[in-house]
Amino acid sequence: MSAADKQPSGGLISLNGALGADEGAACGIDGCAPASAGETAPQANVILPGSTIGILGGGQLGRMMANAGSAMGYRFVALDPTPDAPCGQVAEQIVAAYDDREAARELAKRSDVITYEFENVDAGVAAMLMQESYVPQGSELLYTTQHRLREKRAIEAAGVKVAPYSEIRSVDELREAVGRFGLPCVLKTATGGYDGKGQWVIRGEEEIPEAYETLSRAKTELVLEQFIRFEKELSVIAARSPQGEVKTFPAAENVHVDNILHLSIVPARASEAVLREAERLAAAIAEGLGAVGLIAVELFLTADGELFVNELAPRPHNSGHYTMEACRTSQFEQHVRAICGLPLGDTTLLTPVVMVNVLGEHIEPLLKHVAVADSAAARHGVAPKVHLYGKHEAKHKRKMGHINVLAENVDAALAWISETNIWRV
Ligand SMILES: Nc1ncnc2c1ncn2[C@@H]1O[C@H](COP(=O)(O)OP(=O)(O)O)[C@@H](O)[C@H]1O
Ligand SMILES: [Mg+2]
Repeated sequence: MSAADKQPSGGLISLNGALGADEGAACGIDGCAPASAGETAPQANVILPGSTIGILGGGQLGRMMANAGSAMGYRFVALDPTPDAPCGQVAEQIVAAYDDREAARELAKRSDVITYEFENVDAGVAAMLMQESYVPQGSELLYTTQHRLREKRAIEAAGVKVAPYSEIRSVDELREAVGRFGLPCVLKTATGGYDGKGQWVIRGEEEIPEAYETLSRAKTELVLEQFIRFEKELSVIAARSPQGEVKTFPAAENVHVDNILHLSIVPARASEAVLREAERLAAAIAEGLGAVGLIAVELFLTADGELFVNELAPRPHNSGHYTMEACRTSQFEQHVRAICGLPLGDTTLLTPVVMVNVLGEHIEPLLKHVAVADSAAARHGVAPKVHLYGKHEAKHKRKMGHINVLAENVDAALAWISETNIWRV
């Protein structure tokens, strides 16, 4: 059975004209009736609350998606190999490996629509789910964003700039490209990298052989990028619905420590013109790549106001967690709306906010902090909103949660973060 003919099992309403008049009327909501002949029929399916959303992956992104969607009346089932995974604590869970076809088939059976919370979805599983269920995000965007070279070409095709790059197939090609770009530059594996893993910043020519040999072990293509001396890193999360509606969230200014996101500051401290442009680029990418659901766009901003896209993620993003309390619609609600074919929510920022990540080493001081009256918060007039993901082991550098510090201005939020001493490095 193809995705297009999958029959509704919950609140799924086909808007492609396939339903009879009675079935269309049964939905009882204006605008849900099938299009009559002669009208341009919308292609997309609308999945109404009451339906079940299946998530490939059961980590924190799935958990926050399920929390947002449950509030709207959706049900969730996640597939994740770890028993009692973060999402499994707030939704049903199928405990199985991600590439377990039988488990994926079970997920398809129990879901009206399927999404994913990480981009390294097994291609075979993705194809099978597309066959047996409704996957509005498709597999093309996954295929593109799983590979840095494909991703860069797609961004360029959407008319957006990336840092100058070159595909590297041998140590000689690396030497030649380093000569062209100048030092330093960044060698990256095309697939599988995250939190700075799978990268080597080449600072001297003598590092070339070792950098090449080390990253070659990953058995994937390599890409060399010019080092961008950015002033700031920004990110913009865009959402696109199957009907083609696009909305962006306000740009975040991101601060990394040891290649892991530490802070997202919103509003980002850059000119209005730069922020509008960053948001425009993200919308152009969402449109150009035909994304459905969320797409996170990471950018470098240089001192002279130039923007380069660094990389994409076709899912909710850590730098969008600030939206949970600070925007009229959170990124998680927006993702649910987009994949379910609902109109997208208003992304207006309600308050300045700084999101600070809670890693394994921050858990103990944080738990001490939350148990007592927060005089620093009162003094700075901030409201820190604690989010923890229910992970069992607080390993060093592991993302355990985050805090959205709502404030009158971002300086007050930053002052609170520094006074708590939780994040002293
Ligand atoms: N071409 C570059 N120029 C300067 N800094 C870079 C470049 N590429 C990556 N970085 C730095 O390394 C970080 C991680 O790189 P990124 O490509 O985003 O990989 P990851 O998948 O680990 O997030 C970036 O956020 C940025 O701080
Ligand atoms: Mg990144």
